[in-house]
Amino acid sequence: MALFASSTKNIPDATSVPRHIAIIMDGNGRWAKKRMMPRVMGHKRGVEIVRDVVRQCIDCGVEYLTLFAFSSENWRRPPDEVKFLMGLFMEALQREVAKLHENQIRLIMIGDRSRFDTKLVAAIEAGEALTANNTRLTLTIAANYGGRWDMSNAVQNMLQADPALINGFDELDLAPFLSMHYAPEPDLFIRTGGEKRVSNFLLWQLAYTELYFTDTLWPDFDREAFQLAITSYQQRERRYGRTSEQLKA
Ligand code: IPE
Ligand code: IPE
Ligand code: MG
Repeated sequence: MALFASSTKNIPDATSVPRHIAIIMDGNGRWAKKRMMPRVMGHKRGVEIVRDVVRQCIDCGVEYLTLFAFSSENWRRPPDEVKFLMGLFMEALQREVAKLHENQIRLIMIGDRSRFDTKLVAAIEAGEALTANNTRLTLTIAANYGGRWDMSNAVQNMLQADPALINGFDELDLAPFLSMHYAPEPDLFIRTGGEKRVSNFLLWQLAYTELYFTDTLWPDFDREAFQLAITSYQQRERRYGRTSEQLKA
């Protein structure tokens, strides 16, 4: 199992292009409302933006793109909207997986699958299996994902694998059991839609991630908006606990 260095144990090399971008795609409902359309039309349009962002990531050499599609708290939404989102997820998988594969993209889904229907789980597994050996970009979709679920789940699996760790463990013991163990920690976090919160996304993995918030609604997140986020990232000084002087030396 390839395990990436932890930002709290080792100082990662900062690259000018983020290796890993994690995005909370927010604002679909408001985008639709502004246009007097039902909320779900915003979700539909949102899927199209995903396609563009994947392309842009490939073009600029991003290696990992992680998208928050459905949180463990989104089940609290009206049943019709939840149903629509599940349908959209299924549709997108059926329509896009072959294209992802053609473009050498590896697809991985993180999150608790136990609440999904069996057809959806089968489609996810088929998509992951087909694209498993692709290396151009790893596209992770977080669905029924929650950061707290991820950590609790990891602790449980770690202790099942090695009960002796009940007497004490550290982050390196836990890391292989977290759902994103196959990826470096995100360099850049983007949240569209104006809210400035993490909403139970990658709580563990965001330890030293650069955070970028924009008022742009997800369905409006075009090439220019993406580029603004990259430019903002490139102006950051990633100190990982050190002083600015140390970095310059
Ligand atoms: C994000 O857009 C998509 C999901 C959470 C599935 P929203 O649906 O949260 O849109 P707003 O925040 O209501 O505008
Ligand atoms: C976060 O957006 C989840 C996704 C984008 C999938 P929400 O719209 O659900 O977040 P809150 O409720 O505003 O925090
Ligand atoms: Mg929202």
